[in-house]
Amino acid sequence: MDEDTLQFYRRYAEAYAGWAKAPSTRLTGFLSLLPPGGAILELGCGAGNHAAVMLAAGFAVRATDGSPEMAAVAARRIGHPVEAMLFDELDDRNTYDGVWASACLLHVPREELAAILTRVHRALKPSGLFYASYKIGHDDGRDSIGRYYNYPSQEWLQATYAPSAAWTQVSSDTSEMKSFDEAPATMLHVVVRKGPQ
Ligand SMILES: C[S@@+](CC[C@H](N)C(=O)[O-])C[C@H]1O[C@@H](n2cnc3c(N)ncnc32)[C@H](O)[C@@H]1O
Repeated sequence: MDEDTLQFYRRYAEAYAGWAKAPSTRLTGFLSLLPPGGAILELGCGAGNHAAVMLAAGFAVRATDGSPEMAAVAARRIGHPVEAMLFDELDDRNTYDGVWASACLLHVPREELAAILTRVHRALKPSGLFYASYKIGHDDGRDSIGRYYNYPSQEWLQATYAPSAAWTQVSSDTSEMKSFDEAPATMLHVVVRKGPQ
């Protein structure tokens, strides 16, 4: 966990929620692969825009964020409980049909990411689906407002997922976006399925 990054989302929770973009169009495709009404864990939910779509579609959503202030803002916006939970506090086993982690595991220090992926794997039911998105790069570092990013290449990410647990790749694609600090970024969207233990 990067303390400065977390402090950013604690201090600027309202401002970030006001800026937050429309839900990812990839969410619809993700939900279509889950059993109707299935259980979804959302990590780093931010303003709650994705959780709102999941709830409206009838899923059983556990929305979480590591910033208690962000969790409170999201809960108010979506009218649904949002738990303050850090990634490394995830301890569930065989619980979720899907785990959704949009633009949040990109803040996990490189040396800690594999352990978080192992936790996600454990938390999923057999064949459960896992979405995560990252800002592509070559070396980790900070943006202009001090937030840490792991900035993976596709190769680095594959080499980190592979030993963390048994995953089967479902899809991987990229998109362009503008960050909160106005910097352009290329996002990598990765969907994997839990394989055998
Ligand atoms: C870039 S925002 C993305 C928000 C949302 N998922 C979205 O797609 O709009 C990153 C979120 O990750 C959360 N976060 C950062 N570090 C975290 C950690 N160690 N554990 C849990 N959440 C964390 C932040 O509080 C923030 O809400």
